[in-house]
Order: sequence, then structure tokens, then C-alpha cells
Amino acid sequence: MCQPSTSRFPGFYRLPLAKRRALIAETVGLSPELVGALDGSIGLPESVADKMIENVVGTFSLPVGLGLNFLIDDRDYIVPMVVEEPSIVAAVSNVAQIVRQSGGFSCDADQPLMIGQVQLVEVPDPDAAKQRIEDAWPQLKAKGDHLAADMVRFGGGMRDLEVRVLPDAGDGGGDMLVVHFIIDCRDAMGANTINTVAEGLSGDLAQLSGGRAVLRILSNLADRRTARARFQIPVGLLRRGTMDGAEVAENIVWAYRLAARDPYRAATHNKGIMNGIDAVAIATGNDWRQIEAGAHAFAARKGRYTSLTRFSVENGQLIGEIELPMAVGTVGGSTSSHPSVRACREILGVKDAPTLAKVLAAVGLAQNLGALWALASEGIQRGHMELHARQVALAAGARSDEVEGVARELVRRKEFRVDLAREIWADLRRIGQLATARVEFAVK
Ligand code: MEV
Repeated sequence: MCQPSTSRFPGFYRLPLAKRRALIAETVGLSPELVGALDGSIGLPESVADKMIENVVGTFSLPVGLGLNFLIDDRDYIVPMVVEEPSIVAAVSNVAQIVRQSGGFSCDADQPLMIGQVQLVEVPDPDAAKQRIEDAWPQLKAKGDHLAADMVRFGGGMRDLEVRVLPDAGDGGGDMLVVHFIIDCRDAMGANTINTVAEGLSGDLAQLSGGRAVLRILSNLADRRTARARFQIPVGLLRRGTMDGAEVAENIVWAYRLAARDPYRAATHNKGIMNGIDAVAIATGNDWRQIEAGAHAFAARKGRYTSLTRFSVENGQLIGEIELPMAVGTVGGSTSSHPSVRACREILGVKDAPTLAKVLAAVGLAQNLGALWALASEGIQRGHMELHARQVALAAGARSDEVEGVARELVRRKEFRVDLAREIWADLRRIGQLATARVEFAVK
């Protein structure tokens, strides 16, 4: 792996796909084997897939796109994104391009501390039990560290313990105790080890409490492992169509205020953030469902679901900020041997979990600004429809080298029906226009 000297590749999207791949392979020094993982000649072997989940009947592919232009804490990142929705990669790259003009994203991330939970029920005296468990921390730590020996070897392990009494909630259960142990997972996401420790300590905790252990599992509300990203850009860079930058920035702040106040909007606003984060999580072999779960629980942590980002305008600058749990790993995980994941990790070039967490936070913030920038100015439908037109052309049967010609005509007519695309395709083929479109495309 070599660190890319830049993530700026002007006109990248205009290159034919094979040239794009070759350019990136050369830039990051991708081995022929990993190039094969991208071009599809080396996929996930069925024999491996068959060991990953149950009832396997095959494998499944999705596009890998690259988020470009990312400057994060003074370093360039080429960000692999696995996603099926058009516009996401283009939008995030456009935002990264303007943010880099003002110094890029500044990020930071917590230590990789995760929470494991053990639920204790039918505890005769919860307050006394809490005290006994807290007093037993040295023994519990020693046993937990033994169970998490791999993490301890890399500098992680048991860090802390906290015991909460959850009072009777009128659900017929009476008081219960929940024990949180805090464990440093270093560069792993850590789920397996945390669950092993939770199960391994539950007998001791039950005995100490005089009650019974029921659930023993990690918490996806990883609020000790959050990542933060921030940017500051002159509002003038946001100019779009007939709107000047100050107007667009003001509307972006209004859009943020709606998400901050209203869960109906916050759900969509945060979905836009997760468009980018999930895509990178999948590309890097991370469990995106747990990142989603953590993000949404964090968004509701003050008792009302709200925006994960904040925007403000100060002295002619738009300031954007995000904070969210980011339990990701650069080692381990069931897909770490997946050839495409290995290729994507190599392209991204991140070796440690806190740096990956920062990149994901920056991508989420950029994705959010991309959506708000469009929504707060001309709306998202125009750009979307241009990309959608390509999918309609493909669905109509156009070959990949014919798609642009058909899509262009669909956009011109402002109609995006598959039957119309079929007609256009047939007409263009008949009059030889598709060949012209290909030549134009190649020489641009
Ligand atoms: C679509 O995938 C995501 C958006 O709806 C996000 C948003 O509304 O902020 C465009």
C-alpha cells in the first residue's frame, strides 16, 4: 500500500471505467490480485461465502465508486464507497472538493472504547449488589482481560465498570441491575470479544448480585467511541444557479434547524448522512447495521430524535460539524478476507480504527452538506434525474457504451420511462447516433 499523493483527479468521471481503475491502481500501488478483485475476475469464492452465512445459494455484487478530493487532517484520502444509489458519490466528491479549498476537514475520534452489558434480574438488594460488584472490579478486570487476551496483547482490554440500577417501570419486573464494562478494542470493532467477556463474567456478576444474569451482549450505542468532523468554508463557494452563496448558506442553516427541531425531517437528514457512511462501511468490511443503530440511538440520546450534524454561518463562513458513535475496525470482522474489501481497504490506506472513524465522520458530514446544498438551492431532482436516466437506459437494454446517448435524450425530453428509452435506443441505433455519442465521450 502506498499513500496517495493526491485524491484530486479532475475529469475522473469522464474516463472509461478501465482507465479509472488503472489510474487508481497505479496511484495506490494496487497488486494485480486486488485489481482483479475490483474488475470482478476474482470475486468472493463460493466456498468462503458458504462459510460466512447459512443457506448460501450464490454471491451478490454492487458498484464500487470512489469519493474523491478528500483532505482530512492534512492528508488526502481516496474513499471507496459501495452503494447502489446514484448521486451519492458525485455529491460527496463535489463537497470534498470545495472543503479542501478551505483547508479540508478537521476530525478527531475517541479511544476505541466499547460497552458490554450484563443484565441482572431478581436481585434482592440492588444497591448493596451494586456496591459488591464495584468492589470486585480488580477480580472482574483480571478475568475480563484474560478473556480478551488478544486485545490486551495489542494494548487494549478492560478499562472500567459501571453499575446502574434500572428502577421498576411498571412492566411487572421490579428493579434490575445492568452492569456495563468498558473495553478498549484497539483496531478491532470488537463485537466477538465483548460478547465473550459479557458471557464469561455473567456468572461472577450473578453470584455477586444474588440475582440471575439474563442478557450478556455489547451495546451498539457506542457513545464512548464517537468521532467528530468539522469544516469551515466561505459561503461564496456555495453559489448555485441563480442563487448566491450567502443565500444558499442561509437556506442550509434553515434546513439544519428543521432537522434539529423535527424528527420527521431529522430521519431523512440523518439518512442522507448514513448514505455516505454505510457505503464506506460496506467497502471496508464493517458492520453497517451496528453503525446505523448507534447513530440513531445517539441522535435520540437527549430524549428527542434530532440531527446528527450542526450548521451555522459566522463571518461569511459556513461551519459544519458532526458527532456520532463510530465503532469500526481495520482488523478482524467476517469480511476481512473478502477480496473486494481488501482492495477497498488498500485504496483507502487506513490502518487504524480511530483514523477510519474520522474518515467516516468526514464522509457523513460531506454527504449531508451535499444533500442540503442541493435541497436548499435548486432541489435534488434535476441532478438525480440525470443519473436516473442512465439506469433507465440500462434497464431498456442499452449497452454500457450506449447508455450516455440514450440518457442524454431522456433528459432532454424530461421523461424517464423504460419504454421511451427503448424507442430512443432503437432510433439512435438506426440513425447511427450512438456511435457519435461514443466518439464524443472518448475524446472529451
Ligand atoms: C436520499 O437518499 C437522501 C436525502 O433525502 C437526504 C436529505 O434529504 O437530506 C436527499
